[in-house]
Amino acid sequence: MRTVEWYNGQVRMIDQKKIPWELVVVDLPDYQSVAAAITDMTVRGAPAIGASAAFGMALAAKQSSATTIANLIADLRQAASVLKAARPTAVNLAWGVDKLLGIAISGEFQNPDDLRAALLNEAQRIADEDVAINQRMGAYGAALIQDGDTVLHHCNTGALATVDYGTALGVIRAAHEQNKHFHVLLDETRPRLQGSRLSAWELEQLGVSYDILPDTAAGFYMQKGEIKLVLVGADRVAANGDFANKIGTYQIAVLAKENGIPFYTVAPTSTVDLALASGDLIPIEERDKSEVLAPYGNPIVPMHFKARNPAFDVTPNRYLAGIVTENGIARPPFSESLRLAVAGETL
Ligand code: MRU
Repeated sequence: MRTVEWYNGQVRMIDQKKIPWELVVVDLPDYQSVAAAITDMTVRGAPAIGASAAFGMALAAKQSSATTIANLIADLRQAASVLKAARPTAVNLAWGVDKLLGIAISGEFQNPDDLRAALLNEAQRIADEDVAINQRMGAYGAALIQDGDTVLHHCNTGALATVDYGTALGVIRAAHEQNKHFHVLLDETRPRLQGSRLSAWELEQLGVSYDILPDTAAGFYMQKGEIKLVLVGADRVAANGDFANKIGTYQIAVLAKENGIPFYTVAPTSTVDLALASGDLIPIEERDKSEVLAPYGNPIVPMHFKARNPAFDVTPNRYLAGIVTENGIARPPFSESLRLAVAGETL
């Protein structure tokens, strides 16, 4: 099944907190529970959050008892503010919500039920398009992987981080489907362990050769000359190519440059925020310290110990060899190539 989908008038998603131990789906009956699922990371990964939020807006329209367009729009605005507040960094969330709100306020619909149907159609279209976009990024990005390579990957950017197929892990999947023979090193990605729990689970099923690494081991293998390429995802790419991604990405980028290893991010244009000139303007989520002290409820130190838990960091554009988008690989200067990619031009 897909990571998130519309099922029987509700939003159905895989509970990513339970993987790899159990494959559990949850059915969410209202937009409030979709927002809560984004906050507690039942669903996570920028494109998956974007599609979930779009379905959440369709759900809000269904929940609303409004009999006029004006009242329905008021209810949708309320839902939009709740959904957008669920997590701050991935711009796909606001992108998905605003796409649906744009339809609501377009003035195109006079009948609330017609608008409800149009919103569900759009959410479904966003979900379907996400899969197609990921496959296109996979086709462009697979050319970066050569037989015999070892590729370093951070966090989870696979089917679970999207509606299906994946971004950076989608590139890895595409190269595997082309019968290339290569090995993947998966950063475990503390504190929530998306690399060891989610990416390893996905590569197990795909039959891709991999090893999980402690995050602290990436530099060791780079220095030994084992790593030929680094592929990561992105939660928000600023107009100049600076980008936010899972905490730890920045230090990998610096190590890759030091060791002369090409470093790419793989991100759909829905992750590009041309309204932000540079990465220092990206809001960075800080999550609860309990995730550091007791991952998944298992204390590794006493709970009164102090900790900090930034969920993302920003990598400056100078570390990037390129940004793989659905319209081709954007190269420096990114302010120009990203503008073209977002406008839908083939690069
Ligand atoms: O906190 P998460 O798990 O939502 O963070 C996910 C990432 O940082 C991914 O690398 C990013 O969303 C791109 S995945 C398609």
